[in-house]
Amino acid sequence: MAGSVRGVHLAGWGAYAPSLVLTNADLEKMVDTSDEWIFSRTGIRERRIAGPDETTASMAAVAGLRAIAVAGLQPDDIDLILVGTLTPDYPMPSTAALVKDAIGNKRAAAMDLAAACSGFVFGYATGQAYIASGMAEHVLVIGAETLSRATDFTDRGTCLLFGDGAGAVVLSASDEPGGTLGIEMTTEPSGAYFIWLPAGGSARPATYGTMKAREHYMKMKGSETFKMAVRTLGSTSLKALEKAGLDRADVDLVIPHQANIRIIEALGKLLDFPMEKVFVNVDRYGNTSAASVPLALSEAVGSGKVKKGDRLLLVAFGAGLTSGAIALEWTADPAASARADAIGPGDVKVLPGYLDPVNPFPPALEWLLERSEQGSPK
Ligand code: ACO
Repeated sequence: MAGSVRGVHLAGWGAYAPSLVLTNADLEKMVDTSDEWIFSRTGIRERRIAGPDETTASMAAVAGLRAIAVAGLQPDDIDLILVGTLTPDYPMPSTAALVKDAIGNKRAAAMDLAAACSGFVFGYATGQAYIASGMAEHVLVIGAETLSRATDFTDRGTCLLFGDGAGAVVLSASDEPGGTLGIEMTTEPSGAYFIWLPAGGSARPATYGTMKAREHYMKMKGSETFKMAVRTLGSTSLKALEKAGLDRADVDLVIPHQANIRIIEALGKLLDFPMEKVFVNVDRYGNTSAASVPLALSEAVGSGKVKKGDRLLLVAFGAGLTSGAIALEWTADPAASARADAIGPGDVKVLPGYLDPVNPFPPALEWLLERSEQGSPK
């Protein structure tokens, strides 16, 4: 990676979380676990679940439209759309192509980015490079996931962790001071199989056997992932700050990947960041993979935790094992969040395929729908 880069500002932000809520008490009824175990080991209380009419593209499009509105732009101002996701609507076409149509953009190039939970940070770095090199003026970077459809709800070691949602930012060219200050990205294949989704690709194509063996769900070596996560989050953070010419004490707010509160606290301890300077919402969303950092960022800005001139550190890790960190100086008006208030799922329509639609909702969670029809989200 090149050193510190300038001229790219985070101009818009937005997020979308589906309304269905799956609590730890709900999981207690599905697998051998307890609210106490889940909360003490992960900090998670509940997570959101995409409804039958929602997909990664639909949630990404809402978050994307919100970010474009916050930036004060129109969809057609966007030159490039990047969607970080490990749960695309289809292997092809890209989810980004569907998002482009759903937000009504007629001119952008659009592509997906596969870096698991680091997908948003890697997408930000890619958008940065396009703008810094003059290939684009405005880039929409989205992280979006429907992890509930890749989760084995009979596996108590993974089903407690994941949730659905989307987050987005608009990156724009500007000669004003501030904006992106330093970026670091790493990939460590020695951990490639610590967290993976074995079947459905060219190495293990989908067969009746792979379905029966539940190989279309995420598998994870939890404690190995945990240790590597803390180490790499720490080292990429330090490298991004070094490239930005910042000290740890210069950072006003850290927005880490929301995987597990113990990972976040270990990072805080390792780098001497007091927890008041670390944004946490893992309790309400669980791990939303590529959506996690931009969802947390939007909430942090919307709740008044970010002001002009603040130095932010965004940092993520994920399957690969990938890790990335971005140090930036915030230059936008946080009050612009309100521009997205009126935008919702009714504003986007994802282009359907020509085959008969199926109900994509996880059968193990069907009862959640009945509960929400009875009027209670929980
Ligand atoms: N409820 C109750 N007991 C459980 C549960 C559960 N849900 N899950 C596991 N246990 C048991 C285990 O069976 C084990 O029992 P044993 O000692 O009798 O064998 C015991 O609890 C301890 O299990 P560990 O796996 O050692 O528990 P740990 O403290 O490591 O916590 C966890 C597990 C929460 C998964 C943790 O390892 C973790 O968060 N790891 C990181 C995972 C992560 O961040 N993944 C995302 C990667 S990013 C991406 O790209 C998607």
